[in-house]
Amino acid sequence: MIPRHDPQLKALASDNYAGVHPEILQAIATANGGHQTAYGDDVYTEALQEVFQRHFGEQAHAWPVFNGTAANVVSLRAMTAQWEAVICAESAHINTDEGGAPEVVGGIKLLSVPTPDGKLTPELVDRQAWGFGDVHRAQPRVVSISNSTELGTVYTPAEIAALCAHAHERGLLVHLDGSRLTNAAAALDVPMRALTTDAGVDVLSFGGTKIGLLYGEAVVVLNPDAARGIDYLRKTFMQLSSKMRFVSAQFEALLSGDLWLRNARRANAMGRRLAEAVGDIPGVEVTRPVEANAVFAVLPPDVIGRLQKRMRFYTWDEARNEVRWMCAFDTTEADVDAFAAAVAEEMGSARS
Ligand SMILES: Cc1ncc(COP(=O)(O)O)c(C=O)c1O
Repeated sequence: MIPRHDPQLKALASDNYAGVHPEILQAIATANGGHQTAYGDDVYTEALQEVFQRHFGEQAHAWPVFNGTAANVVSLRAMTAQWEAVICAESAHINTDEGGAPEVVGGIKLLSVPTPDGKLTPELVDRQAWGFGDVHRAQPRVVSISNSTELGTVYTPAEIAALCAHAHERGLLVHLDGSRLTNAAAALDVPMRALTTDAGVDVLSFGGTKIGLLYGEAVVVLNPDAARGIDYLRKTFMQLSSKMRFVSAQFEALLSGDLWLRNARRANAMGRRLAEAVGDIPGVEVTRPVEANAVFAVLPPDVIGRLQKRMRFYTWDEARNEVRWMCAFDTTEADVDAFAAAVAEEMGSARS
Protein backbone atom coordinates (compact mmCIF):
# COMPACT_ATOMS: atom_id res chain seq x y z
CA MET A 1 0.00 0.00 0.00
CA ILE A 2 1.26 3.48 -0.79
CA PRO A 3 0.72 6.32 1.74
CA ARG A 4 -2.30 8.43 0.80
CA HIS A 5 -1.23 11.36 2.91
CA ASP A 6 1.85 13.50 3.39
CA PRO A 7 3.48 12.09 6.56
CA GLN A 8 5.35 15.38 7.03
CA LEU A 9 2.19 17.49 7.16
CA LYS A 10 1.22 18.53 10.70
CA ALA A 11 -1.79 20.34 12.15
CA LEU A 12 -2.56 22.31 15.30
CA ALA A 13 -6.16 21.15 15.32
CA SER A 14 -6.02 18.47 17.97
CA ASP A 15 -3.61 16.08 19.60
CA ASN A 16 -5.87 13.43 18.04
CA TYR A 17 -4.64 14.44 14.58
CA ALA A 18 -1.23 12.96 15.40
CA GLY A 19 -0.33 9.45 14.36
CA VAL A 20 0.87 6.61 16.56
CA HIS A 21 4.14 6.77 18.45
CA PRO A 22 6.59 4.23 16.99
CA GLU A 23 7.10 2.57 20.40
CA ILE A 24 3.34 2.01 20.60
CA LEU A 25 3.21 0.53 17.11
CA GLN A 26 6.07 -1.75 18.12
CA ALA A 27 4.11 -2.86 21.20
CA ILE A 28 1.14 -3.80 19.00
CA ALA A 29 3.46 -5.83 16.78
CA THR A 30 4.99 -7.52 19.83
CA ALA A 31 1.54 -8.50 21.10
CA ASN A 32 0.65 -9.95 17.70
CA GLY A 33 0.81 -13.57 16.60
CA GLY A 34 -0.65 -16.69 18.14
CA HIS A 35 -3.97 -16.78 19.93
CA GLN A 36 -4.89 -15.19 23.25
CA THR A 37 -8.15 -15.43 25.13
CA ALA A 38 -10.47 -12.70 23.88
CA TYR A 39 -12.35 -10.01 25.83
CA GLY A 40 -9.57 -9.17 28.28
CA ASP A 41 -8.56 -12.56 29.64
CA ASP A 42 -5.17 -12.21 27.97
CA VAL A 43 -1.69 -11.89 29.44
CA TYR A 44 -1.29 -8.24 28.38
CA THR A 45 -4.45 -7.10 30.14
CA GLU A 46 -3.47 -9.12 33.21
CA ALA A 47 -0.05 -7.44 33.30
CA LEU A 48 -1.65 -4.05 32.80
CA GLN A 49 -3.12 -4.00 36.29
CA GLU A 50 0.32 -3.90 37.85
CA VAL A 51 1.39 -1.14 35.45
CA PHE A 52 -1.56 1.06 36.44
CA GLN A 53 -1.05 0.23 40.12
CA ARG A 54 2.53 1.50 39.93
CA HIS A 55 1.15 4.90 38.91
CA PHE A 56 -2.09 5.05 40.88
CA GLY A 57 -1.63 2.81 43.92
CA GLU A 58 -2.41 -0.76 44.86
CA GLN A 59 -6.17 -0.33 44.88
CA ALA A 60 -6.32 0.91 41.32
CA HIS A 61 -8.06 -1.25 38.76
CA ALA A 62 -8.07 -0.40 35.06
CA TRP A 63 -10.66 -1.31 32.43
CA PRO A 64 -9.52 -0.51 28.89
CA VAL A 65 -12.15 0.98 26.57
CA PHE A 66 -12.13 2.32 23.02
CA ASN A 67 -12.38 6.08 23.47
CA GLY A 68 -12.57 8.93 25.94
CA THR A 69 -16.27 9.62 25.63
CA ALA A 70 -16.90 5.99 26.53
CA ALA A 71 -14.48 6.12 29.46
CA ASN A 72 -16.46 9.06 30.81
CA VAL A 73 -19.88 7.49 30.22
CA VAL A 74 -18.90 4.13 31.73
CA SER A 75 -17.23 5.84 34.72
CA LEU A 76 -20.13 8.16 35.45
CA ARG A 77 -22.80 5.49 35.00
CA ALA A 78 -20.89 3.20 37.37
CA MET A 79 -20.76 6.00 39.95
CA THR A 80 -24.42 7.02 39.89
CA ALA A 81 -27.89 5.60 40.33
CA GLN A 82 -30.59 6.60 37.84
CA TRP A 83 -31.88 9.42 39.98
CA GLU A 84 -28.45 10.93 40.57
CA ALA A 85 -26.59 13.69 38.73
CA VAL A 86 -23.09 14.86 37.86
CA ILE A 87 -21.82 18.39 38.53
CA CYS A 88 -19.34 19.65 35.93
CA ALA A 89 -17.94 22.84 34.42
CA GLU A 90 -20.01 24.25 31.57
CA SER A 91 -16.94 23.85 29.35
CA ALA A 92 -16.45 20.18 30.31
CA HIS A 93 -16.03 17.79 27.40
CA ILE A 94 -18.87 15.67 28.82
CA ASN A 95 -21.12 18.73 28.52
CA THR A 96 -20.00 20.26 25.24
CA ASP A 97 -18.32 17.69 23.03
CA GLU A 98 -19.72 14.23 23.55
CA GLY A 99 -22.81 14.53 21.39
CA GLY A 100 -24.97 14.20 24.46
CA ALA A 101 -23.59 10.68 25.08
CA PRO A 102 -23.66 10.98 28.88
CA GLU A 103 -27.35 11.87 28.68
CA VAL A 104 -28.42 9.81 25.65
CA VAL A 105 -26.35 6.67 26.14
CA GLY A 106 -25.64 6.85 29.84
CA GLY A 107 -28.91 8.40 30.94
CA ILE A 108 -26.89 10.70 33.19
CA LYS A 109 -28.16 14.12 34.22
CA LEU A 110 -25.45 16.80 34.04
CA LEU A 111 -25.59 19.90 36.24
CA SER A 112 -23.19 22.41 34.71
CA VAL A 113 -21.59 25.51 36.21
CA PRO A 114 -20.00 28.43 34.29
CA THR A 115 -16.33 28.92 35.21
CA PRO A 116 -13.82 31.59 34.25
CA ASP A 117 -11.05 29.12 33.36
CA GLY A 118 -12.57 25.67 33.00
CA LYS A 119 -11.84 24.81 36.63
CA LEU A 120 -14.35 24.05 39.37
CA THR A 121 -13.78 25.25 42.92
CA PRO A 122 -15.63 24.21 46.10
CA GLU A 123 -17.69 27.42 45.81
CA LEU A 124 -18.60 26.70 42.20
CA VAL A 125 -19.55 23.10 43.08
CA ASP A 126 -21.97 24.47 45.67
CA ARG A 127 -23.90 26.36 42.96
CA GLN A 128 -25.25 22.93 41.97
CA ALA A 129 -24.70 20.86 45.14
CA TRP A 130 -28.09 21.48 46.71
CA GLY A 131 -31.56 19.98 46.86
CA PHE A 132 -30.45 16.83 48.65
CA GLY A 133 -33.55 14.85 49.61
CA ASP A 134 -35.80 16.88 47.30
CA VAL A 135 -37.61 14.33 45.14
CA HIS A 136 -38.04 16.94 42.39
CA ARG A 137 -34.34 17.44 41.87
CA ALA A 138 -31.86 14.96 40.34
CA GLN A 139 -29.64 14.19 43.31
CA PRO A 140 -26.08 15.52 42.97
CA ARG A 141 -23.73 12.55 43.40
CA VAL A 142 -20.53 13.15 41.42
CA VAL A 143 -18.27 16.12 40.72
CA SER A 144 -16.50 15.66 37.39
CA ILE A 145 -13.41 17.70 36.55
CA SER A 146 -10.93 17.55 33.66
CA ASN A 147 -7.16 17.86 33.99
CA SER A 148 -5.79 19.45 31.96
CA THR A 149 -9.00 21.31 31.28
CA GLU A 150 -10.70 21.95 27.98
CA LEU A 151 -9.42 25.53 28.24
CA GLY A 152 -5.79 24.49 28.57
CA THR A 153 -5.52 25.17 32.29
CA VAL A 154 -4.17 22.76 34.90
CA TYR A 155 -5.45 21.96 38.39
CA THR A 156 -2.71 21.63 41.02
CA PRO A 157 -2.69 18.73 43.51
CA ALA A 158 -3.79 21.18 46.25
CA GLU A 159 -6.75 22.42 44.19
CA ILE A 160 -7.90 18.87 43.50
CA ALA A 161 -7.41 17.84 47.12
CA ALA A 162 -9.52 20.79 48.27
CA LEU A 163 -12.25 19.92 45.76
CA CYS A 164 -12.25 16.26 46.75
CA ALA A 165 -12.37 17.07 50.47
CA HIS A 166 -15.29 19.41 49.88
CA ALA A 167 -17.11 16.95 47.63
CA HIS A 168 -16.64 14.04 50.02
CA GLU A 169 -17.83 16.15 52.94
CA ARG A 170 -21.02 16.77 51.00
CA GLY A 171 -21.44 13.08 50.15
CA LEU A 172 -20.29 13.53 46.57
CA LEU A 173 -17.78 11.41 44.64
CA VAL A 174 -15.12 12.82 42.32
CA HIS A 175 -14.49 11.75 38.74
CA LEU A 176 -11.52 13.05 36.80
CA ASP A 177 -11.57 13.20 33.00
CA GLY A 178 -7.88 12.53 32.47
CA SER A 179 -7.93 12.60 28.73
CA ARG A 180 -4.84 14.80 29.14
CA LEU A 181 -3.75 13.81 32.65
CA THR A 182 -0.26 13.07 31.32
CA ASN A 183 0.02 16.68 30.11
CA ALA A 184 -1.11 18.01 33.48
CA ALA A 185 1.35 15.87 35.45
CA ALA A 186 4.21 16.74 33.11
CA ALA A 187 3.37 20.45 33.31
CA LEU A 188 3.55 20.42 37.11
CA ASP A 189 6.36 17.88 37.26
CA VAL A 190 4.42 15.68 39.69
CA PRO A 191 3.56 11.98 39.54
CA MET A 192 0.10 11.28 38.17
CA ARG A 193 -1.00 9.90 41.52
CA ALA A 194 -0.48 13.33 43.11
CA LEU A 195 -3.31 14.63 40.92
CA THR A 196 -5.56 11.62 41.44
CA THR A 197 -5.23 8.95 44.15
CA ASP A 198 -3.34 11.12 46.64
CA ALA A 199 -5.72 14.05 46.12
CA GLY A 200 -8.82 11.89 46.75
CA VAL A 201 -10.15 11.31 43.22
CA ASP A 202 -12.46 8.28 43.14
CA VAL A 203 -12.59 7.32 39.46
CA LEU A 204 -10.43 8.37 36.55
CA SER A 205 -10.92 8.30 32.79
CA PHE A 206 -7.32 7.85 31.67
CA GLY A 207 -6.40 9.07 28.21
CA GLY A 208 -4.06 7.26 25.86
CA THR A 209 -5.04 8.30 22.36
CA LYS A 210 -3.96 11.93 22.61
CA ILE A 211 -0.55 10.98 23.91
CA GLY A 212 0.52 8.49 21.27
CA LEU A 213 -1.73 5.43 21.30
CA LEU A 214 -3.42 4.18 18.14
CA TYR A 215 -6.57 4.12 20.21
CA GLY A 216 -7.49 3.28 23.77
CA GLU A 217 -8.49 4.88 27.04
CA ALA A 218 -9.12 3.28 30.42
CA VAL A 219 -11.59 3.60 33.24
CA VAL A 220 -9.40 3.48 36.35
CA VAL A 221 -11.20 2.95 39.63
CA LEU A 222 -9.11 4.38 42.47
CA ASN A 223 -11.71 3.95 45.20
CA PRO A 224 -13.36 0.51 44.85
CA ASP A 225 -16.39 1.69 46.83
CA ALA A 226 -17.14 4.46 44.32
CA ALA A 227 -18.16 2.47 41.24
CA ARG A 228 -20.35 -0.55 40.59
CA GLY A 229 -20.73 -2.98 37.72
CA ILE A 230 -17.99 -1.82 35.36
CA ASP A 231 -17.41 -5.39 34.17
CA TYR A 232 -21.00 -5.46 32.93
CA LEU A 233 -21.39 -1.82 31.94
CA ARG A 234 -18.38 -1.95 29.67
CA LYS A 235 -20.17 -4.57 27.57
CA THR A 236 -23.55 -2.86 27.80
CA PHE A 237 -21.98 0.33 26.46
CA MET A 238 -20.24 -1.55 23.63
CA GLN A 239 -16.76 -0.99 25.02
CA LEU A 240 -15.63 -4.58 25.60
CA SER A 241 -12.91 -5.08 23.04
CA SER A 242 -12.57 -8.68 21.93
CA LYS A 243 -8.93 -8.19 20.94
CA MET A 244 -8.17 -6.30 24.11
CA ARG A 245 -4.57 -7.45 24.22
CA PHE A 246 -3.72 -4.80 21.63
CA VAL A 247 -5.16 -1.96 23.73
CA SER A 248 -3.47 -3.25 26.87
CA ALA A 249 -0.11 -3.69 25.14
CA GLN A 250 -0.24 -0.05 24.05
CA PHE A 251 -0.85 1.09 27.61
CA GLU A 252 1.98 -1.08 28.87
CA ALA A 253 4.34 0.58 26.39
CA LEU A 254 3.08 4.04 27.34
CA LEU A 255 3.20 3.60 31.11
CA SER A 256 5.82 1.04 32.04
CA GLY A 257 8.68 3.43 31.21
CA ASP A 258 8.71 7.17 30.66
CA LEU A 259 7.10 7.34 27.22
CA TRP A 260 4.02 9.09 28.64
CA LEU A 261 6.23 11.74 30.24
CA ARG A 262 8.46 12.28 27.22
CA ASN A 263 5.42 12.70 24.98
CA ALA A 264 3.59 15.01 27.37
CA ARG A 265 6.67 17.16 28.03
CA ARG A 266 7.21 17.65 24.33
CA ALA A 267 3.59 18.58 23.62
CA ASN A 268 3.60 21.03 26.54
CA ALA A 269 6.95 22.53 25.55
CA MET A 270 5.64 23.12 22.04
CA GLY A 271 2.57 24.84 23.47
CA ARG A 272 4.78 27.19 25.47
CA ARG A 273 7.05 27.82 22.50
CA LEU A 274 4.08 28.68 20.30
CA ALA A 275 2.56 31.02 22.88
CA GLU A 276 5.86 32.85 23.25
CA ALA A 277 6.38 33.06 19.51
CA VAL A 278 2.95 34.49 18.69
CA GLY A 279 2.52 36.51 21.90
CA ASP A 280 4.70 39.34 20.60
CA ILE A 281 2.99 39.67 17.24
CA PRO A 282 0.98 42.91 17.25
CA GLY A 283 -2.75 42.21 17.00
CA VAL A 284 -2.51 38.63 18.32
CA GLU A 285 -3.86 38.19 21.82
CA VAL A 286 -3.17 34.96 23.69
CA THR A 287 -6.38 34.73 25.69
CA ARG A 288 -5.79 32.06 28.31
CA PRO A 289 -2.93 30.86 30.48
CA VAL A 290 -0.88 28.31 28.55
CA GLU A 291 -0.39 25.65 31.21
CA ALA A 292 -0.29 22.48 29.10
CA ASN A 293 -0.32 21.89 25.34
CA ALA A 294 -3.13 24.20 24.18
CA VAL A 295 -2.86 27.83 23.11
CA PHE A 296 -5.95 30.02 22.72
CA ALA A 297 -5.71 33.29 20.83
CA VAL A 298 -7.84 36.00 19.31
CA LEU A 299 -6.92 37.36 15.89
CA PRO A 300 -8.72 38.98 12.97
CA PRO A 301 -11.18 36.71 11.11
CA ASP A 302 -9.59 37.19 7.69
CA VAL A 303 -6.24 36.11 9.14
CA ILE A 304 -7.84 33.06 10.75
CA GLY A 305 -9.28 32.02 7.39
CA ARG A 306 -5.94 32.41 5.59
CA LEU A 307 -3.98 30.62 8.30
CA GLN A 308 -6.42 27.72 8.30
CA LYS A 309 -5.58 27.18 4.63
CA ARG A 310 -1.91 26.87 5.57
CA MET A 311 -2.26 24.71 8.71
CA ARG A 312 -5.39 23.06 10.10
CA PHE A 313 -6.77 24.29 13.42
CA TYR A 314 -10.18 25.00 14.88
CA THR A 315 -11.97 28.20 15.71
CA TRP A 316 -12.91 27.78 19.35
CA ASP A 317 -15.33 30.67 19.76
CA GLU A 318 -16.55 32.24 16.54
CA ALA A 319 -18.22 35.17 18.24
CA ARG A 320 -14.88 36.24 19.76
CA ASN A 321 -12.63 35.17 16.85
CA GLU A 322 -10.85 32.92 19.29
CA VAL A 323 -8.91 29.95 17.97
CA ARG A 324 -7.34 26.93 19.64
CA TRP A 325 -3.91 25.67 18.67
CA MET A 326 -3.18 22.26 20.14
CA CYS A 327 0.29 20.75 20.16
CA ALA A 328 0.89 17.00 20.11
CA PHE A 329 3.66 14.62 21.12
CA ASP A 330 5.07 14.82 17.60
CA THR A 331 4.90 18.61 17.12
CA THR A 332 8.43 19.86 16.44
CA GLU A 333 10.21 23.17 17.03
CA ALA A 334 10.30 23.57 13.24
CA ASP A 335 6.50 23.09 13.02
CA VAL A 336 5.95 25.73 15.69
CA ASP A 337 8.43 28.21 14.25
CA ALA A 338 7.04 27.84 10.73
CA PHE A 339 3.50 28.41 11.98
CA ALA A 340 4.49 31.43 14.09
CA ALA A 341 6.21 32.90 11.02
CA ALA A 342 3.00 32.32 9.04
CA VAL A 343 0.99 34.12 11.73
CA ALA A 344 3.39 37.08 11.60
CA GLU A 345 3.25 37.17 7.83
CA GLU A 346 -0.55 37.01 7.66
CA MET A 347 -0.91 39.61 10.43
CA GLY A 348 1.37 41.89 8.42
CA SER A 349 -1.21 41.91 5.66
CA ALA A 350 -4.25 41.87 7.94
CA ARG A 351 -7.14 44.17 7.12
CA SER A 352 -7.28 46.82 9.82
C1 LIG B 1 -11.25 16.66 27.89
C2 LIG B 1 -11.59 15.53 26.98
N1 LIG B 1 -12.23 14.47 27.47
C3 LIG B 1 -12.51 13.40 26.73
C4 LIG B 1 -12.17 13.37 25.39
C5 LIG B 1 -12.41 12.10 24.67
O1 LIG B 1 -12.89 12.06 23.48
P1 LIG B 1 -12.97 10.88 22.44
O2 LIG B 1 -14.26 10.19 22.72
O3 LIG B 1 -12.97 11.61 21.19
O4 LIG B 1 -11.82 9.94 22.60
C6 LIG B 1 -11.56 14.48 24.80
C7 LIG B 1 -11.24 14.51 23.36
O5 LIG B 1 -11.15 15.51 22.72
C8 LIG B 1 -11.27 15.60 25.62
O6 LIG B 1 -10.66 16.68 25.12
